[in-house]
Amino acid sequence: MEQHQNQLTDIRNTRILRIASDGSFSEAEQAGLREAGRMIREGGLVAFPTETVYGLGGDALNPDSSRKIYAAKGRPSDNPLIVHIAQMEALPRIVADIPQAAVMLADAFWPGPLTMILRKSDAVPLATTGGLQTVAVRMPSHPVALALIRESGGYIAAPSANTSGKPSPTKAVYVAEDLNGKIDMIIDGGELGIGLESTIVDLTVEPPQILRPGYVTAEMLSRVVGEVDTDVTILQDGADCGQAPKAPGMKYRHYAPKGELTLVQGTRQAVVDYINRKAGEARMAGEKVGVIATAENFAAYDADCVKNIGSREDEATVARGLYTILREFDDEQVTRIYSEAFETRGFGQAIMNRLLKAAGHHVEQAE
Ligand code: TXA
Ligand code: MG
Repeated sequence: MEQHQNQLTDIRNTRILRIASDGSFSEAEQAGLREAGRMIREGGLVAFPTETVYGLGGDALNPDSSRKIYAAKGRPSDNPLIVHIAQMEALPRIVADIPQAAVMLADAFWPGPLTMILRKSDAVPLATTGGLQTVAVRMPSHPVALALIRESGGYIAAPSANTSGKPSPTKAVYVAEDLNGKIDMIIDGGELGIGLESTIVDLTVEPPQILRPGYVTAEMLSRVVGEVDTDVTILQDGADCGQAPKAPGMKYRHYAPKGELTLVQGTRQAVVDYINRKAGEARMAGEKVGVIATAENFAAYDADCVKNIGSREDEATVARGLYTILREFDDEQVTRIYSEAFETRGFGQAIMNRLLKAAGHHVEQAE
């Protein structure tokens, strides 16, 4: 009976635990975190806030937990999970060796939005690494994430807490939309700060290679470890450059909105005019049209749903707004979406990487 109750399909009630994210937990919040940690240690699944996006956590060293994560997300099981730790002392148990570059990057960016690929130890089940001999490791900085990892025994496997193929959730309501009734608990820590997933850097190759861009940019990594490569498929269609992305998850058409998304690049006025013209044509053809606009151009658009993604002067606001806007367009049944394109330097590279994937690399030049 006990066993039966732990099966995913039997979870009808997902508990919601609200926690203020300032790191000073009340007694009730601490009790809730202990309970969440117990659920994970017993093989259950708990969604929790990190500084990037919400994660769907299970015990990283328990293959059954990892299998449950794949089932709850509807995720292909060859797409490995990130193992989250709360302290450097936890690292040796899960990796075969710790290269000097990893120590330097951990010093500089952990806890924080950086994931490192390292050679795995026998303690990490293949179910967690999607059959790979390497493991992705990250130490998040969100106080709720850190507390939960400690309460859970030290190793939480957590992909983003969305249904496979949907944008990663930056608010607990989106986690509930995708996973309510499929997992044991959702910890609601409010809206998250960064809004895009962590930077992934592979340290099993020389020089280290960025597999997924994020808040920690190539420039920031280079300042610590010197030369850093970038997987070419980050900004190019893998099919066009004849190469598959090195992070298995990057090959799937992630983050795909229901409406067909087109990115438009060019000078400011040309982009606005082009999008307005295309939006007008699409509306005439019976489409419901959405526009992803920067704050600078927001007022100049004419479409069914125009969303202000944030200012070009402050890319952090753009990153934070992106996934929410894509989900809102889905809710509003938008069928055509036009978005302004962004610079591909610095944090902009992560924004364009996610937009290009959401658009299936469909970019048009505004004349
Ligand atoms: O910010 C984040 O990283 C969030 C939060 C929850 O921490 N997590 C996240 O996990 O984005 P997920 O599962 O949605 O994305 C993990 C990515 C996938 O593209 C996966 O293929 C790649 O990391 N990955 C994991 N292990 C890998 C490995 N050993 N080698 C190459 N890529 C790996
Ligand atoms: Mg994901």
